[in-house]
Amino acid sequence: MGLPSGITLLYLLAAVLFIVGLHQLSSPRHARSGNLVAAAGAVIAFITTLFVLHHSALNLILMALAILIGIPIGAVAARAVKMTAMPQMVASFNGVGGGAAALVAIVEFLGRPAGTTSLVVSISVVFAVVIGATSFAGSGIAYAKLQEMMRGTPITYPGQQPVNAAVGAAILLLGVLVVVAGIGVLGLWLLLLLALVLGVAFVLPIGGADMPVVISLLNAFTGLAVAGDGFVLGNPVLIVGGTLVGASGTFLTMMMSEAMGRSIANLLFGAFGKIQVGPETAASGPRNVRSGSAEDIGTLLAYSQRVVIVPGYGLAVAQAQHAARDLAEALEKRGVAVEYAIHPVAGRMPGHMNVLLAEANVPYEQLKDMDEINDSFKSTDVALVVGANDVVNPAAHNSPGSPIYGMPILNADQARNIVFMKRSMRPGFAGIDNELMYDPKTIMFFGDAKDSLTKLVAAVKAA
Ligand code: TAP
Repeated sequence: MGLPSGITLLYLLAAVLFIVGLHQLSSPRHARSGNLVAAAGAVIAFITTLFVLHHSALNLILMALAILIGIPIGAVAARAVKMTAMPQMVASFNGVGGGAAALVAIVEFLGRPAGTTSLVVSISVVFAVVIGATSFAGSGIAYAKLQEMMRGTPITYPGQQPVNAAVGAAILLLGVLVVVAGIGVLGLWLLLLLALVLGVAFVLPIGGADMPVVISLLNAFTGLAVAGDGFVLGNPVLIVGGTLVGASGTFLTMMMSEAMGRSIANLLFGAFGKIQVGPETAASGPRNVRSGSAEDIGTLLAYSQRVVIVPGYGLAVAQAQHAARDLAEALEKRGVAVEYAIHPVAGRMPGHMNVLLAEANVPYEQLKDMDEINDSFKSTDVALVVGANDVVNPAAHNSPGSPIYGMPILNADQARNIVFMKRSMRPGFAGIDNELMYDPKTIMFFGDAKDSLTKLVAAVKAA
């Protein structure tokens, strides 16, 4: 089905804007404009499509209704969501995208006279239905786990793997039958049902803790389902847009698993998300730690030459990003060089720390990636660990039995002094003890990250 050249050109423009926007998203400095550029591409694609559709007045009314209902929901939800709840939000938006892709494929298939569907289109329909519905159901479970609407820990039962494999095999068989034997209508609804079951079964054994990685994977699924719809509808912008989402989601999944020091296979089929207690936690009795007052630590910071702030999940929970920036500014006024060390999985979602600190107007130049900053901890007077834990845990280097062994970490332990800011001696997300807290170079500073940073700002000013 050929498209008029004007339409094709507009679709091409939209595709170029998607690619430029995606490229800009790779740097915090350009991420905001990247979002706008990609959104402009989506608006162009949407308006262009209105001229391609053969629509009735009823269709137009339904579309207008959907837009009128959808825009406020999306805008309000995106503004109201807390940064720590962002994975749930992505899961819900992503899930409905997958569900819509599956339904579009079914409706399009059913609307065609029997026997007129080409092989490519039939395969694309099956693909979009299976992948889209899996993403829909899987994202729903991911949302429920993260939102604590159901148990967040892995849900397992005897024979789980064989049951999942059987569902997968049934989907494969049914998909082949739909394509070659033309059992269209019934086959597709059955496929949809089985794919929903697979989505649920796939995510149940995964712990709430590893859910951001799964959400990224499901996001890639939705993109691929949309690309499948592009083949069904003969729409190039859906193919390009869907493929971009599929590819970037896949890369993100790989980068996240690499940053956690785990293979994708281990993430998907291992003891996914199980929180294990390392031998060091089990064996350790009461041990001494050194804690300091705001005044002591303020003086130490004020008379340093170089301070590196290591932000983590606790900083996000405490909403302490502005207080961190205030402290950095107070130190800079005294001639102290300050940088932020950003671990790729610090927090609970990719880019979490970059977004938070950008929100507090921390200059981008001060945000340093792990690889960029790790060698300079040796020449750092104070590593100020704020609500981070696993991302500075030396067990990742030194304890082969530890669940985080092999995970790349920030070398905060190499700094001359470490100030560890958290509320208690409780472990971080991985559930394991952190030797760094017992290091003779470490001073613990207990309290809520925002309160503690505010006290440090006053102490630095008074020093
Ligand atoms: P965590 O290891 O989870 O440690 C956060 C620390 O913050 C906790 O030890 C907690 O100690 C402290 N904390 C919590 N609330 C606080 C508050 N209000 N004030 C001060 N401290 C507070 O965080 P991290 O170092 O950022 O590591 C991230 C973890 O998440 C890694 O294990 C990573 O693998 C995992 N993860 C990340 C991602 C992405 S993409 N970012 C995805 C999946 C998993 P207290 O309770 O004692 O205060």
